[in-house]
Parts: sequence; structure tokens; C-alpha cells
Amino acid sequence: MANYKFLIMNGPNLGHLGERQPEIYGSRGMEALPALVERLLGPRAQDVRLDHFQANGEGALIDRLEQARTDGTHGVVLNAGAYTHTSLALADCLAWIGLPCVEVHLSNVLARADEPLRKKSFIGRHCIGVIAGFGMTSYALGVQALLQHIEKQ
Ligand code: DQA
Repeated sequence: MANYKFLIMNGPNLGHLGERQPEIYGSRGMEALPALVERLLGPRAQDVRLDHFQANGEGALIDRLEQARTDGTHGVVLNAGAYTHTSLALADCLAWIGLPCVEVHLSNVLARADEPLRKKSFIGRHCIGVIAGFGMTSYALGVQALLQHIEKQ
């Protein structure tokens, strides 16, 4: 049985990964994640259970994070999509729920020079770290970072 339960959470427009603008976000969907996690963690992958949640609305994301606070979740890997750059409400939620969270992005948001708005993250200050630019591997790296963080505590 897994020792740790992590929530992999995707925000708006991340429900069709692999189909949405593959030139920016890649051609793989969330089904690729288990193999990537196994490759990174090796046998330690067995210690981690991954729950998935995706919603297009801010309220549903906040409701799920509040649930994670009390349902035995140990940490969150969060790709908040465009809410990363706009949502004070999501940031306020992360500020109080007391769960370690890794902010992840498929694309390297800092390198999207034509869209400077994407350089701003409301949620980053409430996260233990940020991983961006590695496609689906960003999530697997997020899982690895969470595990390391939790076991260091
Ligand atoms: C994204 C980057 C965001 O700027 C964008 O709004 C997304 C996806 C990424 O994973 O690269 O929806 O979070």
C-alpha cells in the first residue's frame, strides 16, 4: 500500500491534454504520468498514490483543495493553468490549507516572451517550488519534489 497520497490537480483548459495546442503543451496526456513517475522514482513509485482532479472553474478547484486538507492528502502538484496568473482566490486557499504544493507548467511560462502576463504567478508564493517547461515530465518532477520535501520534514 502507498504511504503517501498526492493530488494532481489541473485547472482550466487542461482537460484535453495531448489535443490542445500540442506545439506548446505536447502530445501526451495525463495517462503518460504513471510511467514517467516510475522512471523517476523507480521502486519508490509504489509509495505514492496519485489522485487526479481537473476543473475549469475556480470554485471547483478551491472546493477540491479544501477537501484535500482533510481527506488524508499529503501534498498537491498543481497546474492551475491561466488561474496561475490571475487568481487571488486560489492563492488565498493555498495560503491556509497547510498542504505542500508544487506549481507545475507544461510550457516554460517564463520563456513565452510574447505573453509577459504569463510570467506572473499569484500562487507561486504559497508553493514549495515551481517546475515549468518539461511537458508531462513537469508533473513527474513535481511528484518527486513533493516526496523529497515531505520525507525531509
Ligand atoms: C500552463 C501555462 C499557462 O500560462 C496557461 O494558461 C495554461 C497552461 C502550462 O502548463 O504551460 O493553461 O499552465
